Amino acid sequence: MSVTAIIGAQWGDEGKGKIIDLLAQEADFVIRFNGGANAGHTVVNEYGISRFHLIPSGIFNPRVTCIIGGGVLVDLETLLEEIESLREKGVDTTGRLLVSQRCHVVMPYHRLLDRLYEAAKGKSSVGTTGRGIGPTYADKVSYNGIRLADMADESVFAEKLGMQLSVKNRLIAALGEEPLSLEQIFSQYRSLYAVLAPFICEPFPIVQKALAENKRILLEGAQGTLLDPDWGTYPFCTASTTLANEGTSGAGIPPAEIKRVVGVVKAYTTRVGHGPMPTELSDETGELLREFGAERGVTTGRPRRCGWFDAEIARFSAMLNGFTEMALTKLDVLDQFAEIEIAVGYEVDGKRVHYVDGDAQFLSHCRPIYEKMPGWRTSIQGAKSFADLPSAAQDYVRRLEELIGVPITIVSVGPERGQTIRR
Ligand code: GDP
Ligand code: IMO
Ligand code: MG
Repeated sequence: MSVTAIIGAQWGDEGKGKIIDLLAQEADFVIRFNGGANAGHTVVNEYGISRFHLIPSGIFNPRVTCIIGGGVLVDLETLLEEIESLREKGVDTTGRLLVSQRCHVVMPYHRLLDRLYEAAKGKSSVGTTGRGIGPTYADKVSYNGIRLADMADESVFAEKLGMQLSVKNRLIAALGEEPLSLEQIFSQYRSLYAVLAPFICEPFPIVQKALAENKRILLEGAQGTLLDPDWGTYPFCTASTTLANEGTSGAGIPPAEIKRVVGVVKAYTTRVGHGPMPTELSDETGELLREFGAERGVTTGRPRRCGWFDAEIARFSAMLNGFTEMALTKLDVLDQFAEIEIAVGYEVDGKRVHYVDGDAQFLSHCRPIYEKMPGWRTSIQGAKSFADLPSAAQDYVRRLEELIGVPITIVSVGPERGQTIRR
């Protein structure tokens, strides 16, 4: 089993970064395949706290080659900052970080348009991260994108950028902003490209060789299943596919190679940005979850919306992605609660319904059906094995497993790499 996909099972921020850093200790390659710098993946290990928007979270294992696959949108400034901050920590990425020439580049007009569209939509805005993700993917699929490969040749880049700005500036002016300068963007992006050029290549032959040699490959998903544009809460979602299958086009991996799919799921539910969230708690319990879980967005610093575990969406994610196992994170955040609730399903007007029955509008009418379990009211952050957990915590994990329908093989009890139980 050489290829493992690690996928968020909720609305993102499930703790994928932590799980990748852990599993990367037993891997040869870690590949990002979707999203862009809207992702914010946290890793806590011997190098302190690190937050990645683009660089794969397996970078701390010196034996691992990290690849940013062609399905990812690259923000050149963010990428450079991450390489620099790793260098400051003594981590050299040279030769170990490969960026696909197929990646589309986020341009300043994408970030600006992201902001302008959001402002124009007012109260029906999505609550994006402001990283230009929607506009850049929109350009990709409407044949207006600029890829890293285009930037290698000065005249090709100048021609494409000029063409795009001639259109984008009309749009920007119509939305009431000052047009952007071609010369300024061109020279800034040429300099950024020159610094990053040594990392840019075509990783396909390297990935093929790794597959042939049965190397251990991790596919690092960004965002979460419920943010998928097809199966998530559209239009309150992100722009690229967040599901396990995207590893194929986004990383250049044949579908049949992905044998293991690990769903990462938080022991409760969070969401950042707008859109329906049936188990959201706007009371004191929600506040406590936010406080104990330090629930603030890595990319935007926004407070995350919090609520009890939603088994309806976790089960749906498991079916859709074909999770072969689950990694349960942040169980320790529930340490202080006397009673814990789980949404086992939904109802509308007294009738049992499912997530998949409707759209975001429908979901906003769904009421969770709760079940209560006793809490354990003691710290579990030091637990090293499943048997170390209080019986109430063990029961909670088993109940979630039963409701999701997939074995929970990893239980995370703290942010650090070592605070993890393998079952
Ligand atoms: P990602 O986007 O899925 O990688 O998740 P984020 O990094 O955005 O958010 C997860 C947050 O929870 C980070 O601050 C992690 O350091 C933290 N975290 C991960 N696992 C655990 C855990 O088991 N317990 C606690 N208390 N924090 C955790
Ligand atoms: P990680 O990988 C949580 C959300 C935004 C917004 C919607 C669209 O850290 O789990 P976008 O900027 O993508 O156009 O925003 O998607 N979103 C995330 N929420 N975690 C993420 O990534 C997210 N990436 C995007 O908050 O609701
Ligand atoms: Mg995150």
